[in-house]
Amino acid sequence: MTAEYQVHGAVAVITLNNPPVNGMGLATRTAAVNGIQRALADDAVKAIVITGAGKAFSGGADIKEFNTPQALAEPSLHTFIATAEGSTKPVVAAIHTVCMGGGLELSLGCHYRVTMPGAQIALPEVKLGLLPGAGGTQRLPRVLGLEPALNMIVSGNPVLSEKLPALFDEIFAADADLLPSAVAFAEKIADVRPLPKVRDRKVDYPNHEAFLQFSRNTVKAMSGPFPAPLECVETVAASVTMKFDDGMKFERERFLHLIQTTESKALRHAFFAERIASKVPDVPADTPVRPIKSAAIIGAGTMGGGIAMNFLNAGIPVKLLETRQEALDKGIATIRKNYENTLKKGKLTQEKLDQRMGLLSSTLSYDEIGQADIVVEAVFEEIGVKEAVFRKLDEVMKPGAILATNTSTLDVDKIASFTRRPQDVIGTHFFSPANVMKLLEIVRGKETAKDVLATALALSKKLKKTGVVSGVCDGFIGNRMIEQYSRQAGFLLEEGALPEQIDKAAEKFGFAMGPFRMGDLAGNDIGWAIRKRRYVEKPEISYSRTADLLCEMGRYGQKTGAGWYDYKAGDRKAYPNDEVNAMIVKHSADLGITRRKISDQEIVERLVYALVNEGALILEEGIALRASDIDMVYLTGYGFPLYRGGPMFYADTVGLPNVLAAINKYAKGHEGKAWQPAPLLQKLAATGKNFNS
Ligand code: 3HC
Ligand code: NAI
Repeated sequence: MTAEYQVHGAVAVITLNNPPVNGMGLATRTAAVNGIQRALADDAVKAIVITGAGKAFSGGADIKEFNTPQALAEPSLHTFIATAEGSTKPVVAAIHTVCMGGGLELSLGCHYRVTMPGAQIALPEVKLGLLPGAGGTQRLPRVLGLEPALNMIVSGNPVLSEKLPALFDEIFAADADLLPSAVAFAEKIADVRPLPKVRDRKVDYPNHEAFLQFSRNTVKAMSGPFPAPLECVETVAASVTMKFDDGMKFERERFLHLIQTTESKALRHAFFAERIASKVPDVPADTPVRPIKSAAIIGAGTMGGGIAMNFLNAGIPVKLLETRQEALDKGIATIRKNYENTLKKGKLTQEKLDQRMGLLSSTLSYDEIGQADIVVEAVFEEIGVKEAVFRKLDEVMKPGAILATNTSTLDVDKIASFTRRPQDVIGTHFFSPANVMKLLEIVRGKETAKDVLATALALSKKLKKTGVVSGVCDGFIGNRMIEQYSRQAGFLLEEGALPEQIDKAAEKFGFAMGPFRMGDLAGNDIGWAIRKRRYVEKPEISYSRTADLLCEMGRYGQKTGAGWYDYKAGDRKAYPNDEVNAMIVKHSADLGITRRKISDQEIVERLVYALVNEGALILEEGIALRASDIDMVYLTGYGFPLYRGGPMFYADTVGLPNVLAAINKYAKGHEGKAWQPAPLLQKLAATGKNFNS
């Protein structure tokens, strides 16, 4: 059932019923239109109420139908809304909880709107790279006025129903029962004629041209590579400058244009990717989760402190454990300072700050942490230290406590083997700064229990993180891929490029930061330590030595005031350094390489396709469950440009045969053996499929 029909006295009630949010897919639209027609044919019915079942009036058009024939199949959303608006009996939208996108557009086509306080009202299409395509840009300004409507449409942000009195004919009391109240309202207005229609109103805004021009300029400056916000302004402008029907036609045209853009496809991909990432095929949605009411964190360094803040922000008490009092004091002082900075920016109140700090306690003794529901280890990245900590945790933690490690490179299965309860051990790989970065890689060991995994996924939502599951391998999803990207960046230096050119090309592509600025921020010594280990463990893998030479110069990055670039105190700007560039040029000469001019296109291809090729291996090995999980890792943890949808989605848009051809070409060049096309990539390219198909 996708829309139910009932008659309450003289009022027909049509209830959209398409869980989870009553997206208006074809079946729902068909049932609802049939409902209106049935009501019109029934002489006993004097008015119609449309409402939604469950936890929404409607979340809008069914996004899953976009770019499928169902989206345009009749009755379309337009036909549904036109049927409601054209009804000869009054139609009342009874709105609650969530009323968004096409849901709001439907209600604007109804003759009346009633609601409860607390409902979230929005036209969020812009967040999917679209504009409201079912009359929202023409009707909302006619109801709210030009300026408030434009703000809602361009921002896409929800506004509470009680803040929008102009939108509603009645806002019932918070404790009222919506449906009976809406039916009573419908009975009251059943005989009022003519039926009020939003389309008949005019947008009244003196001097609208100046306002619209100001809006165009502001929105253009803020929307970067995304075309939708400016298109929103143009279509809203049409509500003032064109007749209603012409404005509707214009809106339709611009909507159909936007829906085909890569930017919109990328945003919609990211929307679903974020939601599907929390689903693991062999861990059903009803898997019980362990309650997490308290946490302990081992190590109050860079990561431990940031991780603690996540729990505190979510209202979960934290006990921090360290080996020395000074380390504890320093860790706690940093947490306090971070909160104070947020307070200074006006984003936190003193009361909240005190509340959060009040949830934090510390200890030097394992005896005091045993009762925590979860313990997250964030000590030095050395297997011996991890072993000592996990043996101790195994001794002291209560049965059923989750033992999590924040290791970024070590084997989670090995860490689990230090305990007698490997089923309770899991990797929770936070990204630095842990209180800011959205990504949480959840590393599933071979013995991790399903309910532990389900708990970690639920916890990631509670901590407002995007949780992505990774299997155990060196570097997990994100760092394993970035290593190939960094290798290419190094080889590009050897062949003829300089850090500045490579960073600029990467940043022009849309990365938040190029590889060298990122290295300077993270600390070049971290990669150096990893490579030193690799030179011994995997001598067959080649790396450019330029980064080692840089570290030998003592240039670790921002923390030493110098890395690939120079830095000035109080200024994060990167200044190219002649000595570094001379070192790079000399290194090419030492290798016998004649430096050549390298195009930005080659730079970007080599960086991005290195990610893609490793991503394909990761998929094939089952380390990532799906290509979209890899995209989420890169969008939320590595500054990959959102409008390109993540590396795997991007490769799909370029066309996998094109990606493969480029990889084969680079395989013939300098350090070509770094390019061995992943079998999955070859297979998909040969069969015309995509990573995300
Ligand atoms: N169509 C289909 N499915 C939708 C949907 C929609 N419009 N909106 C949400 N869903 C699905 C999600 O995919 C998710 O599915 P899952 O349970 O299988 O993973 C489920 O609903 C719940 O979503 P959330 O996890 O986001 O739940 P929340 O309770 O946190 O939020 C929400 C609910 C506020 C409705 C949020 O999902 C949201 O913002 N949705 C997007 C709404 C939107 O963009 N609407 C405009 C659609 S475009 C449109 O209407 C075009 C028209 O102008 C022509
Ligand atoms: P850090 O050096 O800043 O902090 C480590 C802290 O652990 C120190 O305060 C130290 O006193 C404490 N410690 C050491 N041995 C201990 C023990 N036996 N018991 C209790 N405390 C002990 O290191 P950082 O950067 O916070 O890294 C911690 C872990 O997080 C490592 O496993 C690292 O690989 C991982 N990680 C680091 C990231 C980063 O960007 N720094 C990112 C993601 C993961």
